[in-house]
Amino acid sequence: MTKRIPVILDGDPGHDDAIAWVLANASPLLDIKAVTSVCGNQTIQKTTYNAGRIMTLIDLNVPLAMGRVKPLVADPIIAPTVHGNSGLDGPALPEPKHKPVEQDACTLMAEVIEASEEPVALIPTGPLTNVAALLLLYPHLKPKIRHIYLMGGGIQYGNWTPAAEFNILVDPEAADIVFTSGVPITMAGLDVTEQALVFPEDFERIRAVGNPVAKVVAEWLDFFYGFHRSIGYPGAPVHDAVAVAALIRPDIMTMEDMYVAVETTGDYCRGATVGDRLGVLHRPANARVIMGIDREAFVDLLVEAATCYNKGGERA
Ligand code: BDR
Ligand code: CA
Repeated sequence: MTKRIPVILDGDPGHDDAIAWVLANASPLLDIKAVTSVCGNQTIQKTTYNAGRIMTLIDLNVPLAMGRVKPLVADPIIAPTVHGNSGLDGPALPEPKHKPVEQDACTLMAEVIEASEEPVALIPTGPLTNVAALLLLYPHLKPKIRHIYLMGGGIQYGNWTPAAEFNILVDPEAADIVFTSGVPITMAGLDVTEQALVFPEDFERIRAVGNPVAKVVAEWLDFFYGFHRSIGYPGAPVHDAVAVAALIRPDIMTMEDMYVAVETTGDYCRGATVGDRLGVLHRPANARVIMGIDREAFVDLLVEAATCYNKGGERA
């Protein structure tokens, strides 16, 4: 059996973050070393609480650390219209079994990376605040970061402004630090995540799996789709799970290497990820950008992940 890849999950759960973590925890390829929360979809208190509730649901017993209370420079932006007031509205969830550790997110990430024999992959599915802080404060650890698989940005369009996707818009300064860090990046932006649509009939496949985790995932999808249906989507775009899938099933995706700059100024374009697809800037590529996905294979992956949990909720 091949060695499992050590990973840190960093997110702002959030329904799609939660589903991404269910997927990561189900994969025999990954060894989750820690979970860190970031402010984004909701305040840091709420996303940390939600992270603890998800970890308890899926019996993920690793350290959880809380991120900074705000982005590096900007004021927080939250997304209650998408994820509800709790940041994870919908089904009832267990109370967190474990408290967050004393260290903040960035310190825990550094400790885990330092202690790991193998380079560690980071999977950020919220604003890049914690990852940027890690890169700024511990630059000597860069060689021990195997790869960053992030959900954020969009080469062709935004979702929170015409130019910017939510995670990048919330903390563009952090995103700029990450994209200029030299650490290998795979970007799951809106170009692909809006193709990663899970339709109501797919929810039923997941619900029919029947274990407690599968039932909750189906109810998260019901809630998450409620917002997206109201703005005309035929299904729920499970953005953050694409970042995990990029690590475990890259064969179901198409990708392009390119230079990606993050716009940190501007009246209309702050937070945009500007991808030089034509190579006119003559700069070396700093990101592998996912542009397409086999939607049905992605849904199958989520269904398979749901079947990995047993009746008590833990991984079978
Ligand atoms: C991103 O924004 C958040 O609302 C989701 O969790 C996802 O990470 C999509 O733009
Ligand atoms: Ca997220």
